[in-house]
Amino acid sequence: METEKINQLVIGWLKQARKMILASFSRKLTVETKTSRNDLVTELDRQVEGFLVQHIKANFPTAQIISEESRPKLKKFDPKQPLWIIDPIDGTMNFVKTHHDFAIMIGIYQQNQGKLGYIYDVMNDRLYHGGPEKGVFCNQQRLKPPANLPLSQGLLEVGALTLLYDRFHLQRIVLASNGVRIYGSAGMQIIRVLTGQVVGYVSHLKPWDLAAGRVLAETLGLTVKTIDGSVPDVLSSVDVLVATKNAQEDIVRMAQAPY
Ligand code: IPD
Ligand code: CA
Ligand code: CA
Repeated sequence: METEKINQLVIGWLKQARKMILASFSRKLTVETKTSRNDLVTELDRQVEGFLVQHIKANFPTAQIISEESRPKLKKFDPKQPLWIIDPIDGTMNFVKTHHDFAIMIGIYQQNQGKLGYIYDVMNDRLYHGGPEKGVFCNQQRLKPPANLPLSQGLLEVGALTLLYDRFHLQRIVLASNGVRIYGSAGMQIIRVLTGQVVGYVSHLKPWDLAAGRVLAETLGLTVKTIDGSVPDVLSSVDVLVATKNAQEDIVRMAQAPY
């Protein structure tokens, strides 16, 4: 199927998934913990995931799918076949506690190359989507590549624990920026890099946290690298940096310098 047809199908599913999420606010949700008391899953994470997987399988019977809540095994994928990577709700803690700052995310890859990415800011009804063939859009509006600012001229998004434990000297890196922002959703934080509101985002991410944003960021000429400057594996959990090229160089240099 050609890219634009896939794109229109996915956009339609995401709009329906948004309605499911908005409707859920009028009832009490079942919330469970996973690896820790701050790692949550709700019935909506599972409902949105089931809905997306069902539609993908019906339209693309040979699709390979990695979806967070199905606890996928990350080994046995054929790089020649399309791979769909889904985070049904990114920022579940925000979803539960604030009803804001969470996203539905899908990344589609082939031959380890990103084809299409979707980050849906549900509460603002802003869908960031696109890929190398068509560029990146927020709803219908094309995004321009953000200015290539250095670390010293921009805000920095981080993962809270990476900053609190000062991994990779992140505290001094933050001090060299214009300030730190932490929104608690990889997708929502990557959106701020895509739109040039911040110069970078540093965090430890799983494949479904990064897959969609990586396609969009690379299409806009941003860098997506591990904290030591190498290319992240699509199927690995990594300490990752999504940033302007100049900020990436600044951050990697500071992360590696001794105290
Ligand atoms: C989490 C959020 C959070 C990030 C975690 C992710 P989830 O995703 O993106 O900001 O720091 O590493 O696991 O669990 O809400 O989908
Ligand atoms: Ca996530
Ligand atoms: Ca999730």
